[in-house]
Amino acid sequence: MAAGSSRGYGPSATLCVAVTALSAALLAPGLTQPHGLSRRPLELKIDQALLLVHNGLINENLTVSWLSDYCYQCLYQDLIFVPTSNTLGKPSIVNVAVDSQHPITLQLNGTLEGRELHRIHYHFGEFGNYSLVVKSFHNSTKISCDIIINESPVNSHLPILYAFLIYMGILSILTLGHVFVIIDPIKNWFYKKLNPVDTDHLINSERGSPARADSASSNVPATAWTVSQRRLRSLDTFRGFALIIMVFVNYGGGKYWFFKHQSWNGLTLADLVFPWFVFIMGTSISLSLSSMLRQGCSKWKALGKAFWRSFLLFLMGIIIINPNYCLGPLSWSNLRIPGVLQRLGFTYLVVAVLELLFAKAVAENNTLQETPYSALWDILLCWPQWVFVLMLEATWLCLTFLLNVPGCPKGYLGPGGIGDFGKYPNCTGGAAGYIDHLLLGEKHIYQHPSANVLYQTSVAYDPEGILGTINSIFMAFLGLQAGKIFFFYKDQHKQIMIRFFIWSVVMGAISAILTKCSKDEGFIPVNKNLWSISYVTTLSCFAFMLLLLIYYLVDVKRWWSGAPFFYPGMNSILVYIGHEVFENYFPFKWKMKDNQSHAEHLAQNLLATSIWVIISYLLYRKRIFWKI
Ligand SMILES: *[C@@H]1O[C@H](CO)[C@@H](O)[C@H](O)[C@H]1NC(C)=O
Ligand SMILES: *[C@@H]1O[C@H](CO)[C@@H](O)[C@H](O)[C@H]1NC(C)=O
Repeated sequence: MAAGSSRGYGPSATLCVAVTALSAALLAPGLTQPHGLSRRPLELKIDQALLLVHNGLINENLTVSWLSDYCYQCLYQDLIFVPTSNTLGKPSIVNVAVDSQHPITLQLNGTLEGRELHRIHYHFGEFGNYSLVVKSFHNSTKISCDIIINESPVNSHLPILYAFLIYMGILSILTLGHVFVIIDPIKNWFYKKLNPVDTDHLINSERGSPARADSASSNVPATAWTVSQRRLRSLDTFRGFALIIMVFVNYGGGKYWFFKHQSWNGLTLADLVFPWFVFIMGTSISLSLSSMLRQGCSKWKALGKAFWRSFLLFLMGIIIINPNYCLGPLSWSNLRIPGVLQRLGFTYLVVAVLELLFAKAVAENNTLQETPYSALWDILLCWPQWVFVLMLEATWLCLTFLLNVPGCPKGYLGPGGIGDFGKYPNCTGGAAGYIDHLLLGEKHIYQHPSANVLYQTSVAYDPEGILGTINSIFMAFLGLQAGKIFFFYKDQHKQIMIRFFIWSVVMGAISAILTKCSKDEGFIPVNKNLWSISYVTTLSCFAFMLLLLIYYLVDVKRWWSGAPFFYPGMNSILVYIGHEVFENYFPFKWKMKDNQSHAEHLAQNLLATSIWVIISYLLYRKRIFWKI
């Protein structure tokens, strides 16, 4: 089945991939034209606008401070000082760059008496030219304060629309191509053009030679496990989907804030993918272990394998996270220890061991249907595992909320810096940060946490730190549940989807309670840097729903082959490591004409991501899979 579909899809996917590369390359300069150098006041950076502050006050200096709407409970930051005008009737004007990502509040203070004169809330647009005109009325102490648009901003979201249209165009070409390719002469032509090797197979097979059987069987991917003799394509599709977003986001996501990690609490696109990756890893663990055991592999052997894989992941993680090209040789004393692959490795180990130690040979269908608690089988059957995981969660809660962190309040979950009105500048991440500093040392963790721009934090904080790993184990464990559901119900699609739906709703409800449905005000806010519990429950709510959807489209109805996400999903380790290692090499990055333009960043990042899809597709065609 896999052979047939991949073959039918082959030429059109290649076509798609070629078109992607071509159009992205052509569009990189094209996109930038309307937003290019000509429009931008030269000193402005990406996501900034120009503000001309006119001080028309008589005998009063003006201090302007600012605060972003996205900075929760932050202190105002000084923006600019505007001295009073020397010549009567003519205001003094000072230029300053302001943030255009989020709405901001400007606070005007008169420096003579230090009194607050006015506050304005405004959302500046990128590369716009604005004037803030401050005037006093003749015979009163009241002042007027207006924002005037000198030059309107550029629409920095337009490139996303273009990119979307391009990819939609490619998709239609692909779909059309798919239809045409079904017609035989064109199909042969395509094969000849694009796949000389395959042409031979095709011709051979049309002659009725026995080569056909061989080529078909060699087309079946090397399966790590099977469910009813057929690999679930939805898992690879899900994994590939998360991976491709991860690649795009790691490459910069076009420098849009919503494609980058959230500064502290909340979710952006970038914050979604890592937990999904962990989740689907859990699902794969469940299915691969049960198939290994069924094939007569001993538990000890499986255990040894799990240790070895997790060790390899950890080692590769350390190697790729500490690059030394361009920077000169790296010193042992500031080797970063935690990281994405390290966390994946450790999570993998714990969940695999847990599954091997406690998994009963999951009862075959129907053996449990009669008992009164059958609805809860996925918890009751493996209750020791649940006890263990709940104990882990209790540990997380205790450490997070009860650990004494010197100089910081108990249970602190904030970003430090200028957050919480600047009371705890060095408390970034509370207990999670403290534990990493204590156990790993300040030099061995990540130095540029996402909070350091908006919240102006100065201490190191690692988003893949030790404490958060507990919750990543929980996430993988929930993925493991999904795998058990797949296994337990075999091909009973309806049962599987109902289970996923229920899990999703339950996780959603827990998140709603934990966060009080708010970004910053909840008991435990959703936070990627801390990997808070609510982050895990929210993301697993999404994950169950997404898996349900993909499962329905790909495996139940077979309306979608899972392309193009399927290919990177089959080669996830290779794509992940490759994208990290070759990040600064040519086709993935080049010197930009205007490195302050969203359009050019977006084109570059999308092209780089598309190239990884192409690479994984080519490797898939050649049956090259990197498994560890
Ligand atoms: C912004 O607008 C003001 C008023 O129209 C103009 O004098 C100034 O040159 C503009 N600044 C830039 C950098 O375009
Ligand atoms: C925070 O750390 C910086 C440098 O490490 C230090 O100068 C400052 O005094 C610390 N602040 C507090 C409140 O401890």
